[in-house]
Amino acid sequence: MVSDRWVEKIAPDEAERHRAQAAFFVKLQEQRVGRYGAGRSLHRTQVAALHAEVRVDENLPDYARRGMFAAPVTYQARIRLSNGGFDPAPDRAPNIRGFAIKVLGVSGEAALGGQADSQNFTLINRETLSVGNSADFTKIVEIGSSRPVAMLGAIVRKPSVVPKIATALKDFKAPFSGFATESFYSVAPVAFGAYAARLKLSATTSTVNQAASDDWSADVYSRLVGGPLEYVVQAQFFEDEQRTPIEDPTVNWNAPYIDVARLVIPSQQSDDGLRDAAERDDFSPWNCLRDHRPLGEIMRARRAAYAASRRTRSEA
Ligand code: HEM
Repeated sequence: MVSDRWVEKIAPDEAERHRAQAAFFVKLQEQRVGRYGAGRSLHRTQVAALHAEVRVDENLPDYARRGMFAAPVTYQARIRLSNGGFDPAPDRAPNIRGFAIKVLGVSGEAALGGQADSQNFTLINRETLSVGNSADFTKIVEIGSSRPVAMLGAIVRKPSVVPKIATALKDFKAPFSGFATESFYSVAPVAFGAYAARLKLSATTSTVNQAASDDWSADVYSRLVGGPLEYVVQAQFFEDEQRTPIEDPTVNWNAPYIDVARLVIPSQQSDDGLRDAAERDDFSPWNCLRDHRPLGEIMRARRAAYAASRRTRSEA
């Protein structure tokens, strides 16, 4: 049963640890400016920047009619699709894929104070993480970014060095058919007013382009010549700590997803102005309504890391 009795467990020293992790991500970025120019610490490579609409469904249950889902309205939105790595890599290479959405024209109290006029959601093509906290997440990025690829093999053969690294690499290698045909997940929960939910985006197109992995961007834009791309937006609500733990992103929640909206990407062409704007833009999950504030340690860590990454890329 959907419940509002979730609790975050916030360690007294975590803000300090999150600041240190943010400093690591800045270092990672600074080491790459000379090679590739200014850019994000992670999800550096943009695949596409798109205009979109989010159409909230009618007749949602009371617990889902919160924040931007309170009424069946249509919002304009902007999207940045990305490959997840800190270095540019061929599209075919194993990677996490990012689907960042900025919903425009929302109104209400912002999570970080003042009034919000937009609501970000940042999703990836994995439903859970192989690491349970931001310290392990940062450690894996640190190992991956500081050693030659040949040495990574040696670390994987000795998983005791970093117990989760072998699983993390498997995550990277999960099959991916393209941004138009996959599902994307928030992994960790966000508030829904007094309730909490994880989000999922499911593509309604099932026709796979076997050549999509040659060029993800060309696959998306060529499909958009023929018509819109549509996704069902779903929410999976907190029920209890056992089945739907707030603080553990390694656990796949055991609760139903319900439809809450449609995301429609209308027919359009690649637009250099929009692509440049998306590079400068901020898709931090903390740019959001208080009603949809990110929940759990891994989400709290993102507050400092995204702000620092954004500051660094705008100053580079
Ligand atoms: C639930 C887990 C996570 C998901 C779903 C996720 C997803 C994403 C996505 C989609 C982007 C690209 C955003 C864009 O296009 O602008 C991104 C960027 C980034 N992520 Fe994460 N991420 C997660 C966890 C983390 C954690 C734990 C950290 C660090 C502590 C982190 C650090 C970053 C940084 C530094 C960027 C670049 C931000 C920028 O410059 O705007 N992420 N992430």
